[in-house]
Amino acid sequence: MFSVSKLIIDGRKRLSGRIEIQGAKNSALPILASALLTCDTSVINNCPDLSDVEITLNILRYLGCTAQLDGNTVTINSKCADKYDIPDELMRAMRSSIIFLGALVARFGMARLSFPGGCELGPRPIDLHLKALRMMGIEISEQHGSLECSAPNGIHGAKISLSFPSVGATENIMLAAATAQGTTIISNAAREPEICDLADCLNSFGANISGAGEGTIIIDGVEALNGAMHTIIPDRIAAATYMAAAAATGGRVLIDRIVPTHLSGIIPIFEESGCTVKQRGNSILIDAPNRLRAVKLIRTMPYPGFPTDAQPPIMAMLSSAKGTGIFVENIFENRYKHTSGLERMGARIYLEGKVAVVEGVSELYGARVASPDLRGGAALVVAGLGACGVTEINDIHYIDRGYESIELELSKLGASIKRL
Ligand code: UD1
Repeated sequence: MFSVSKLIIDGRKRLSGRIEIQGAKNSALPILASALLTCDTSVINNCPDLSDVEITLNILRYLGCTAQLDGNTVTINSKCADKYDIPDELMRAMRSSIIFLGALVARFGMARLSFPGGCELGPRPIDLHLKALRMMGIEISEQHGSLECSAPNGIHGAKISLSFPSVGATENIMLAAATAQGTTIISNAAREPEICDLADCLNSFGANISGAGEGTIIIDGVEALNGAMHTIIPDRIAAATYMAAAAATGGRVLIDRIVPTHLSGIIPIFEESGCTVKQRGNSILIDAPNRLRAVKLIRTMPYPGFPTDAQPPIMAMLSSAKGTGIFVENIFENRYKHTSGLERMGARIYLEGKVAVVEGVSELYGARVASPDLRGGAALVVAGLGACGVTEINDIHYIDRGYESIELELSKLGASIKRL
């Protein structure tokens, strides 16, 4: 599955033009898993064509569903689904496969899967998922790295208060609760737009979910769900990455087919760095100065705060800004792996625990680097686009997990970037 290809970028080409943003990866995965809750055909539009989506479709096929990606439309029929386990190699390929836990117990009253793999962003426990599902009557035993789940008396609603608004835990509870007996109330639920997207999708299948996007989500369990059609929201992290790419090159780019309010935690950072950001309906126009200014303090927070997934590309963009800025990473413990690649390109970054101090250099220069993870790889692309000379980025299979044809999209904007 992993490719040996690399990206070669000849930097310093000012980006200009228009880019249409792909569907959201982080919505696609739970939404595709939610198709298991119906015995009908579900049609999902605006699904990004990514390696993580392919893994999710392979899991669905393994479970006995038919699943077809045609352009950006996925058609799934789960009528014949007859397995409730996920093999280790599929679980390890993608951490988000844990999202199948809620979907499988909802469908079969049983699930067997191993602990998930995925990006190495520090410890990524699933204790909140398990605690909540246990409160809903699901018995879970953890043995030798695998989880055995069963709901001998069915799944029932519960009042669940999350100690942290975990995105994945909120999604798993919603999936398990949609057809549970009674009402589930999640307080301190995650408020990310992808949570609203999953709620909208489940509601179009016939679920009864209210409050998504606010701190408290109420799910009134219904007897059964039917198939339906749903369109995935635009990917706000891909949008932020392309905005960072435009800004790093002093460019002027129309970021199209987005929901500007989903970027409310990000736009002020671009403005503080000296960019002009104009919103027009479903697009924004970013116009960057020749040299960016440092942004004093960026703290990653749950939505609607500044997203942790945008931290690496925006750090890359600010590595050559005028002045010194501070990042505080509050969501994941090990999310500064991209800094060593940036340093190879001339960046000056000082790390201390969750804090990174970025002292802007006058320019970055091209170097041979490797993606440490998905967004860290995107950060190196942003750095390479703004750097003087040629950058070679290896291990780009990470980047392909989250960006649809990144080199083609950037080439259309005038970047000199190719995949070898
Ligand atoms: C999702 C996103 C990921 C994003 C993250 C935070 C998907 C597929 N991935 O990941 O891109 O960076 O939200 O916005 O949607 N935690 C626990 N126990 C748990 C669950 C989480 O301690 O049971 C901790 C995690 O270790 C982490 C923090 O909570 O430190 C946030 O995790 P969570 O919101 O669950 O992120 P994911 O759903 O894994």
